[in-house]
Amino acid sequence: MEDIRNFVIISHIDHGKSTLADRFLELTETIVKDKMRPQYLDAMDLEQERGITIKMHPVRMTYVLNSKSYILNLIDTPGHVDFNYEVSRSLAAVEGAILLVDATKGIQAQTIGNLEMAKEQKLVIIPVINKIDLPQAKIEETEKEIADLLKINPATIIKISAKNGTNVEKVLETVIAKIPPAKTPFFEEKAGLRALVFDSKYDPYQGVLAFVRIFEGEVKTGDKIYLLQAGIKTEVKSVGIFKPELSSVTKLNSGEIGFIATGIKISSQVRAGETLADKPAIKPLAGYHEPQPKVFLSIYPEDSNDFGLLKSSLEKLKLTDASLFFKPEMKESLGRGFQAGFLGLLHAEIISERLKREFSLNVVLSTPSVVYKMTTQDNKKILIHTSADWPASGLQAGEAQELWIKLQVLAPANYLGQISELLGNMESKYLRTDYLGPEKVKLIYEMPLREIITKNFYDKLKSATQGFASMSYEILDWRPADLVKLDILILGRKEEALSRIVPAQEAYREGKKIIEKLKETLPPQLFSVPLQAAVGMKVIARETIKARRRDVIAPLYGGDYTRKRKLLEKQKKGKKELKEKGKIRIPSKVFLEVFRA
Ligand code: GTP
Repeated sequence: MEDIRNFVIISHIDHGKSTLADRFLELTETIVKDKMRPQYLDAMDLEQERGITIKMHPVRMTYVLNSKSYILNLIDTPGHVDFNYEVSRSLAAVEGAILLVDATKGIQAQTIGNLEMAKEQKLVIIPVINKIDLPQAKIEETEKEIADLLKINPATIIKISAKNGTNVEKVLETVIAKIPPAKTPFFEEKAGLRALVFDSKYDPYQGVLAFVRIFEGEVKTGDKIYLLQAGIKTEVKSVGIFKPELSSVTKLNSGEIGFIATGIKISSQVRAGETLADKPAIKPLAGYHEPQPKVFLSIYPEDSNDFGLLKSSLEKLKLTDASLFFKPEMKESLGRGFQAGFLGLLHAEIISERLKREFSLNVVLSTPSVVYKMTTQDNKKILIHTSADWPASGLQAGEAQELWIKLQVLAPANYLGQISELLGNMESKYLRTDYLGPEKVKLIYEMPLREIITKNFYDKLKSATQGFASMSYEILDWRPADLVKLDILILGRKEEALSRIVPAQEAYREGKKIIEKLKETLPPQLFSVPLQAAVGMKVIARETIKARRRDVIAPLYGGDYTRKRKLLEKQKKGKKELKEKGKIRIPSKVFLEVFRA
């Protein structure tokens, strides 16, 4: 049995994770040179094109050092905050992490967020500075930042160019020297199976492939296994490793990373963090959570005839993405669509982009919102995703609650003022500022998740700091929130589809924004149209769209007064009748504009 090292690469977006992985693949001859293409392990077109890794394939490499052969398993940690839980499960599956920092950028927020999680898992950290070939590389400054952060001697940090391959071998050698070997069956001969699922993939023939780290025991084709969290028993269809393409083996042993074909057809039954075991009564591995969507929005097909296609497309995406949630919803003027839940804004963006690319669907997305908790008058605890979930009585008995986060912003110290001002104008609670070296600051705030999600905080932060600041956040807890349902009335009639849940202190601003948008986009009628924003019975903002004048008497020359009067009266009567019907048709274009506002 060869020695095994299991590890991840922790880095911020664009610091060179995929490029370093490419060099590893070449050095270990996992991919033959003429088959090599850049960012080999980035799986989707979308990833290759945008140069961001949403998910990197796990890979098993073999490397010979001092005539001894080692198995090196590299698995992915999605760099983005939306996928924090998935990151934590990947970290739980390995013993070590390469901390990769771009010498031109220095440490950025996501690196710190993930590093903190890696430390919680007690991983061995191997610090590496990348892109030393670039003239603008600030090697010494970056060295100092990392040394301060990890409390280590700067001389121990490896300096590389993943692009040119400089010192990449040294990184692999350090992985072997510093990261403890994964346990081998030698220690666990008698133990039953316990394996951690850190990711999965849907296969139409073999069902869900669970990507696993075997902690104890072994597993082979035909074994009966239990999914302890889901409470399901199944038979192993096959087992294999990542070369990086899936490749069958006869069995997987303790310490190894590979896949188990479960035969299960519902991907949400095989979740990251699940424990696979050979007996039902074994203690599951720690750290499992149900996936919790945090961002909600409505998705409608641009062409209402595409509803069926949207439904089947979402169902297909759900097969490969167990953390996507959706249920049908119906809105007047837009027809049928779905209310969907995502792990975060990036996750939502990925799904809408995939709908476009993989299914040629054009969709309309509503403004994103977060989930609230509420106790109703009859003392029921409910979750509120959209205004339709608001209790019909309109009043709440207990209190509403919302999720709060701990936000970390990392930026050059000269942007401190801009960042404080931006956060000062939002609902937030300042906690502290830490210095990472003399020129970089870490600001820590607590604030409602809503502020980040609904106000485009990330873009604002980037523009306030010319792109230099980075952020990460973690969910803290539920805290009381003062919420109201904001209704929009057109011609005195409530348009349910335009209602929203908003914090009480923002109701006026939001209400005004919506009716101004309506005024701008709704075509004038023959009569004047009052627009109102209301909370409960109280109107908090109003506007009027003036009547469109039609000159009914223009065709009449001369002074036939009676005829003129007759025509004017007829027009007046017509307008009154129209107005009494109390309804005007809202073109879907208008609805979409407001929906997005
Ligand atoms: P995500 O996939 O978004 O997480 O980014 P990543 O960390 O995988 O970064 P990636 O490997 O895609 O590299 C980002 C950019 O930096 C690419 O344009 C690379 O060519 C470039 N790059 C990576 N390493 C080096 C290096 O050592 N030197 C130079 N000059 N460029 C590098």
